[in-house]
Amino acid sequence: MTEQCDVVIDNVRIASMQKNGKAYGLLSQSSVAVKNGKVLAIFDVSQGSYQCKQRFDGENKWLLPGFIDCHTHLVYGGNRANEFEQRLQGKSYTQIALQGGGILGTVHATREASEQTLLTSAIKRAARLAEEGVTCIEVKSGYGLDMHTEVKMLKVAQQIAEHLPVNIVTTYLGAHTVPKEYRSNPDDYVQFICEQVIPVVAKQKLANCVDVFCESIGFSPAQCRKIFAAAKTHELNVKAHVEQLSDLKGAKLAAEFGALSVDHIEYLDPKDIPAIKHSGTVAVLLPGAFYYLSETQKPPVAELRANGVPIAIATDLNPGSSPIASILTIMNMASVLFGLTPEEVLYGVTAHAAKALGLTNKGQIKEGLDADLCLWDIEHPAELVYGINQHRPESKWFAGKGC
Ligand code: NIG
Ligand code: FE
Repeated sequence: MTEQCDVVIDNVRIASMQKNGKAYGLLSQSSVAVKNGKVLAIFDVSQGSYQCKQRFDGENKWLLPGFIDCHTHLVYGGNRANEFEQRLQGKSYTQIALQGGGILGTVHATREASEQTLLTSAIKRAARLAEEGVTCIEVKSGYGLDMHTEVKMLKVAQQIAEHLPVNIVTTYLGAHTVPKEYRSNPDDYVQFICEQVIPVVAKQKLANCVDVFCESIGFSPAQCRKIFAAAKTHELNVKAHVEQLSDLKGAKLAAEFGALSVDHIEYLDPKDIPAIKHSGTVAVLLPGAFYYLSETQKPPVAELRANGVPIAIATDLNPGSSPIASILTIMNMASVLFGLTPEEVLYGVTAHAAKALGLTNKGQIKEGLDADLCLWDIEHPAELVYGINQHRPESKWFAGKGC
């Protein structure tokens, strides 16, 4: 082992989150060598070691992959505390949306906000995630709806990575709600998304994915079908907010287009699960929105499990239905509210979250994959899910560099 590497992390217990038949992908080795931002080798010092510029003693703590928050809307203007008050006075999320508030309220604030204002507030939120061990964040547009503001949002999202040790994956969510200028003709707005915005998003590489809100207060399955078809024409991946408030069969439709993920899915009919399994689509559960909207319909976890559908967990960080900038809190909610085991939750923010973003280089500690790693001072990985606000990573490496 004369090969030179950048850093060796010794004396760690490794929850690799690989699927190796062991809980949490536990590995028997206790050292990780990192080179050029990737994991070069996982080994035992008894077998020799690597020449390295830096050695780090992990003191028998647990090393996990950096967390991946695979569903957020963290670029936005203003906030919706006023709406929170209205909800406490008895108005529902849907009623507020139908009265021109909700997403449209944030659209107004986001159109007004300068790029710098949006960036500053987005960095603050992303930093809250990063300090809890998140090293990769998906960020959706969808609070601009017009060409100028959607492009502005996606560019702001991409810039976050220049300020924090995180990768950003962007998603175009033009079909979040119908903007006021198209309220009398929503189909024209869908045409605008398909024919004008998606080509620009693809050409300028502003996003990897196209998302929709398939719902009575969002877009119909027929409209979503057109948007998915346009996304595919431009070689963009598909994701979808589906079955959050009602069952419109959006998940089945998304699966038809090989969607990377179907998200929310509280009202998913278990009969549609085999189609999701067949298309290799990840079920992304968002317990923050469930909690925040006092929803009572739970996603069909037992049936997803029985069908072997990979389940991911995300914050859904947004100003309306989940103003929660804490992946660790969300992880606890996924267990307490939805009954996921701590192991399922940890796969949900690592290996399965990577799959929900189409990333093959992240989400596990494995030779050749990105060295995004967090060291936790815990006795067992379940502790990260069991408590709330008890832990922060002791040490972190992003692309192999300590941060
Ligand atoms: O994922 N469902 C639609 N979109 C967001 C909510 C956005 C908002 O209320 O601003 C969600 O819950
Ligand atoms: Fe969302």
